[in-house]
Amino acid sequence: MNPKQRAAEAALSYVRDGMIVGLGTGSTADHFLQALAAAMTTGQLHGLRGVPTSRQSERRAEQLGIPLVTLAECPSPDITIDGADEVDANLNLIKGLGGALLREKVVAQNSKMLLIIADESKTVSHLGERSPLPVEVAIFGHEVQAPFLRDLGCEPTLRRNAAGQVFTTDNGNYIYDCRFTNIADPVHIELKLKSRAGIVETGLFLNLAKVVLIGTESGVETRKR
Ligand code: A5P
Repeated sequence: MNPKQRAAEAALSYVRDGMIVGLGTGSTADHFLQALAAAMTTGQLHGLRGVPTSRQSERRAEQLGIPLVTLAECPSPDITIDGADEVDANLNLIKGLGGALLREKVVAQNSKMLLIIADESKTVSHLGERSPLPVEVAIFGHEVQAPFLRDLGCEPTLRRNAAGQVFTTDNGNYIYDCRFTNIADPVHIELKLKSRAGIVETGLFLNLAKVVLIGTESGVETRKR
């Protein structure tokens, strides 16, 4: 079993019968969806419903037979289980390399608990060390966001897909991937970004994760806030 899968399977022990579960996006979250579907098929878990955080996790859950509800129907999921791109020592996160940051943050903020599953490669001492910070922007006037972002101390790149077309999120927006070398004060950067018109959401998930499960070659390390 690989470390991502190990973390994903360990997350099952946080799920109880009848829960509403926020379903994350990415390869680690996909391992969790598979483990959840298997637990439902074997009768280990009953009566669960999922709230997807992207069209991708929605399609995958449908394929796997996990019943879905919307946030409108179930506005306060019991738990959300999602991956991350970086995790620091305070359990603050960078998310959104999969492009789902906005829906992931909406579902996480409205959940009773956010549980993150990751492998060791995601752990950092400072956010921005390895991953760019994804920033979702409205298409209208998006060009003016690049110099604004640069002034915050990063190098922004408009995200493109493998075919070279500008990547569009599930919400019809663009993403600038912002390369910082170290986000020394993430709260300050978040405030700056969130007060700028046209910036829709950021991949900084601060004070949101309650538990992080880090899968390793030999086991799973649990970090709690
Ligand atoms: C999706 O938008 C991200 O927030 C993902 O959670 C992240 O990219 C993790 O992906 P992997 O589990 O594939 O590393």
